[in-house]
Amino acid sequence: MLVTGAAGRIGSVTTRHLSELGALVTALTLVEDPSLKADRVLVGDTRSEDDVRTALDGAELVVHLAALAHPTSGTPYDVYTTNVVSTFNVLAQAGALGIDRAVVASSINAYGVPFNPNDVLPAYYPLDEKIPSDVADWYSLSKQNDENTARMCWRRWGTDVVSFRFPHVNSAEAVRRQADGFIENPARGVREGWAYLDTRDAAYAIELGLTAPLSGAHTFFVAAGTTNAPYETEALLDAFAPGVPRLRRFVGREVPIDLTAARTVLGFQAQHELDLPIHRLEI
Ligand SMILES: NC(=O)c1ccc[n+]([C@@H]2O[C@H](COP(=O)([O-])OP(=O)(O)OC[C@H]3O[C@@H](n4cnc5c(N)ncnc54)[C@H](O)[C@@H]3O)[C@@H](O)[C@H]2O)c1
Repeated sequence: MLVTGAAGRIGSVTTRHLSELGALVTALTLVEDPSLKADRVLVGDTRSEDDVRTALDGAELVVHLAALAHPTSGTPYDVYTTNVVSTFNVLAQAGALGIDRAVVASSINAYGVPFNPNDVLPAYYPLDEKIPSDVADWYSLSKQNDENTARMCWRRWGTDVVSFRFPHVNSAEAVRRQADGFIENPARGVREGWAYLDTRDAAYAIELGLTAPLSGAHTFFVAAGTTNAPYETEALLDAFAPGVPRLRRFVGREVPIDLTAARTVLGFQAQHELDLPIHRLEI
C-alpha cells in the first residue's frame, strides 16, 4: 500500500503501525527521513504526476496524509493548491488504476469554524458530519474540497474513500500539554469541542478505514471520547457557547462530537485517553 506524508506526525506512526500489521508499505515523503522504516521509501512530491505514478506501482490501498497542515504552513496559494492538487492527483490516479480503497486525512476544519477569523460558533453541538460549514480560510477550504474529490473519485471509478475529520492529533505528552493550557484558558477550545486524538489512535482509525466493510465515499469524525479540558463539558458549553443549541446532554468530560458513525460503521473507539481530574469551572 502507499502512504503519503509518511514522515509526518500522523504518517510516521501510521507507517510503523501498518508495517507491524504485515502490510507492504511504500512510504512517500517530500524530504528524506532516515528514521522512516517501510518496505519501499520514495522521496517525491504528491503534486507530481510522475512521482505519484511511481509510488502507486503495485499498490492495492492508499493512505493519503501529505498536506500543508495549517493555514500558516505556506502562503494561502501554496496551502490551498498543495492540498487540493495532491489529493486530486493521488485519488484520481488511484481511481484510474482500479485501486479499491483509499483513506484520506480531512480535518475537523472542513466545517470551517475553528479557523474562521469572525466571531462564529458551531450551528449546534454535538458536531457531526452534517454540521453546516462556515469556511473563511484556505486550509479549511482545501479540506472541504478534498472531501468532494473523494466523492468524485468514488462516483467515477468506484474507489471507496474514507475521509477522516481529525481533531488535534498529537502524542500523549503534547495532548497533555494542551490540557494544561485549557486549565487557564478553556475558551480557546470551544470551536473544536475541546477534542483531541492520540496519534496512535489516528493510526488505528486509518487501519479500520482500510479494512472496514463499506462501500462509497464516507466522511467520519474521529476523536477521543473525552475532551482534553479538565472541566465538565456542560459547564464549558454553558460558559462559552450558551446560545448554541445542544441536541443532547453530555456526561462528564464527554466530547461534544457525535462519534456514532465511526463507532458503528468502522468499529472505532479511541484506546488512548487522558485521565484528567475534573475541576470546577470559575469564570
Ligand atoms: N495533526 C493534526 O492535528 C491534524 C488534524 C487534522 C487533520 N490533519 C491532517 O492530517 C494529515 C497529516 O497531518 P500531520 O499532523 O501528520 O502533518 P505533518 O505536517 O506532520 O505531515 C504532513 C506531511 O506531508 C508532507 N508533504 C507536504 N507537502 C507535500 C508534497 N507536496 N508532497 C509530498 N509530501 C508533502 C510534509 O512534508 C509532511 O511530512 C494532513 O493532511 C493534515 O492536514 C492533521
